[in-house]
Amino acid sequence: MKLFTKTFGCQMNFADSDEMVREFAQRGFSRSENEQAADAVLVNTCTVRDHAEHKAMSYIGSLKPWKDDHPDRLLIVTGCAAERVKDNLKKRFPFLDLVVGAKDIESFPEELDQILNSRPLQEENLIPLPLAASLGSASPVVQFVTIMRGCNYSCSYCIVPQVRGREKYRAIPDIVKDVEIRLLEGAKEIWLLGQTVNSYQPPDPPFADYDFADLLRDVNAIAGVKRIRFMSPHPHYLTPKLITALAECENVCEQIHLPVQSGSTAVLKRMKRTYTRQSYLQGISELKKRIPKIALTTDVIVGFPGETEGDFAETLTLMEEVGFDNAYCFKYSPRPGTLSGSWEDDILTEVKEERLGRLLNVVESFGQIKAKAFIGSEQEVLIEEELSPGVFRGKTRGAWKVRFHEANLTPGDIITAHITGTHSRELHGEGVKSQLETFQSGNKKFQVET
Ligand code: 5AD
Ligand code: SF4
Repeated sequence: MKLFTKTFGCQMNFADSDEMVREFAQRGFSRSENEQAADAVLVNTCTVRDHAEHKAMSYIGSLKPWKDDHPDRLLIVTGCAAERVKDNLKKRFPFLDLVVGAKDIESFPEELDQILNSRPLQEENLIPLPLAASLGSASPVVQFVTIMRGCNYSCSYCIVPQVRGREKYRAIPDIVKDVEIRLLEGAKEIWLLGQTVNSYQPPDPPFADYDFADLLRDVNAIAGVKRIRFMSPHPHYLTPKLITALAECENVCEQIHLPVQSGSTAVLKRMKRTYTRQSYLQGISELKKRIPKIALTTDVIVGFPGETEGDFAETLTLMEEVGFDNAYCFKYSPRPGTLSGSWEDDILTEVKEERLGRLLNVVESFGQIKAKAFIGSEQEVLIEEELSPGVFRGKTRGAWKVRFHEANLTPGDIITAHITGTHSRELHGEGVKSQLETFQSGNKKFQVET
């Protein structure tokens, strides 16, 4: 039995897909490269913007002939859009076998069992595969571990709290165990994930003051973990304690994605973001001071209701002031059931598009400058995948992609690369010097070339 997965949306969704794929793998499924060869398709949907939901819905619609050809094929829809339109989904697409909303992901294994038990399973086809090989996401070298689900914020534009519910934290030993399993499977880089990942707190006493900074230190101490990243922190919880942990944990990459959404304090207030332009910039300046090499990325929304030209100009100046390595920029999309969804969407589409264009120009200009500045430098790169024979791609600690034309690399290698050029946002690496091995003694980190 073969499974094809299609995931829309954020890393949390990709992590959820991985978890569901693990459930399939434990029941004997292996991975299919496409729908045609698959006995089951899992569609994990997103609803953060109207466009994202629309893409998922069109994809589901396009699977009708696939299902009609072999009605015993399984079509399963999960995730945030499934949660939002649950009741209507089966009406709209009567050929679906199972719908599991984002809030019910914990019941996915039982739901899957029910549906599999109700179908003729061909036992001879149940060949368990190594889990990492069956995962639907990027490189097995880079693996996700969800540490919390849901969100206790109520940003006025955001549908996530509605479809994912309130914050629920996983226990520390469970998180550590998951990291260890992924390392045993060959992972070198671990992403700790949560909707507001740095609001993490342990679900059980007695860890009164234990927070995300402590969790980072605990994961940092796990033998074999080479790189740690996390997604997405909320600026509200960028505490001095967290910045110190980031600066001191040698396996935590010098990189942070810190969604700002707008550079205007007035807009941030209406967005209910709980920080101001000034306090955001203060946090960034602290990060730069303590971790000089830190790579910074962010999310921005343009055309939020009431956003004036002056507000938008403040977003542009904030981008220039910070000098982000990259930014994910979105046109505001009103979502049903959110606070701002009930306000007039008063910024014309043309204005949103024009602002988005100007914003992307600034982001790209900084991207080009930053990329060029790497030329001639040496970077630690984790090789993630072989794109074609002899062509490999990896990432620097600052999450810049690097491409190599080197015959003797293997995904999972951590190498020192000489950066020779750039192509758009990708760096070119050459003259791989050596393997870098890192070991620790007391508080000190040593790197030796082997
Ligand atoms: N419209 C546009 N962008 C949105 N985002 C979240 N909700 C909306 C919306 N209604 C963006 C934010 C968030 C990212 C994941 O998606 O920038 O950080
Ligand atoms: Fe949405 Fe705000 Fe929660 Fe992020 S913090 S998931 S933007 S409500």
